[in-house]
Amino acid sequence: MELQHHYSLKKLHTFGIDCFAENYCEISTKDELNDVIQSIKTLPRPILFLGGGSNVLFRADFSGTIIKISLFGKQILHENEEEVLIYCAAGENWHSIVEWTVQNGWGGIENLALIPGNCGAAPLQNIGAYGIEICQSLVNVHWFELNTKTEKIITNEECNFGYRDSIFKRDLKDKGIVTGITLRLSKNPTPHYNYADVQSELKEQEIVNPTIKDIFNAVVQIRSRKLPNPNEIGNAGSFFKNPIISAIQFTNLQSQYPEIPHYSQNDGRIKIPAGWLIEKAGWKGFRQGDAGVSSKQALVLVNYNNTTGEEIYQLSQNILDDIFNKFNIHLEREVNIV
Ligand code: EPU
Repeated sequence: MELQHHYSLKKLHTFGIDCFAENYCEISTKDELNDVIQSIKTLPRPILFLGGGSNVLFRADFSGTIIKISLFGKQILHENEEEVLIYCAAGENWHSIVEWTVQNGWGGIENLALIPGNCGAAPLQNIGAYGIEICQSLVNVHWFELNTKTEKIITNEECNFGYRDSIFKRDLKDKGIVTGITLRLSKNPTPHYNYADVQSELKEQEIVNPTIKDIFNAVVQIRSRKLPNPNEIGNAGSFFKNPIISAIQFTNLQSQYPEIPHYSQNDGRIKIPAGWLIEKAGWKGFRQGDAGVSSKQALVLVNYNNTTGEEIYQLSQNILDDIFNKFNIHLEREVNIV
């Protein structure tokens, strides 16, 4: 394993900020992973394992060691007439996997098309979109534990999944690496299209009984229209989580803003789209220098060209403060700040 120094991170994360890692290496095989782990104590700290870089903001240059996980491979583990179990190594691009499954007629993750990033990061934040979350198809996570230097299987139940949440963001944070995931997909899939945007897209295309391919295409259309493409303009998708507030707080808010979109949760609380709050507060399309709030979706902060991580961070702080002052709601960042 050879460390590279002053390594540019610009192309390694979707915000595309011009910043550097003091030390850098890439792992492409399990042997390389073992080598790195054996000598991990000698590496300059802090250590950051990086996947597709689609959910990270570097506030400044990274002074420790960045280890990029590029483990590739996908395979069918088991199949019968009803279902198929597939294994995807951590470095596989998520959208390519979704495409592959849809082409094969295996249903379950088609609503999660075009989510940037790699398979390894998908369970960490329980990626979700258009009414589906990965936890609904995930069987287990292959987890390389740093302490014991061994690979373990973490079952779906053990992942403690929640909205944009899992054990990997909590008890297991910084304790290991996802090396791969197992998914269970259906060969007789039931397409999910309760989400209003998907329904109206299908209606526009005059599709009445959609297949999973139709759902996949609809989601690709919606996302291409509503979310800035990170290949064209740097961003990390939703920068904030949608806040979940009490029923009492919601009633107060609704009396002021009768049109406020909202989703009731099983526990009686109410989820509010942060994008709506941010737009209502006047931030949509805001730009200061090269840092801005997307004019397509207010939940997404963007790097127009050459902003710094610190400028994006400050912008996010100004938005957090403003939303708190205006609505008495604490927004939480969804993106990992490094
Ligand atoms: N809205 C606004 N203004 C905006 C954006 C949204 O008023 O600028 C309102 C819309 O009118 C709509 C509501 O907010 O009524 C919901 O908007 P949207 O369908 O775009 O979804 P979202 O709640 O803003 C979440 C996820 C997205 C995911 C979409 C679709 C989070 C933090 N974000 O956004 O995930 O694609 O639902 O399911 O939960 C991501 O994680 O990177 C991501 C893009």
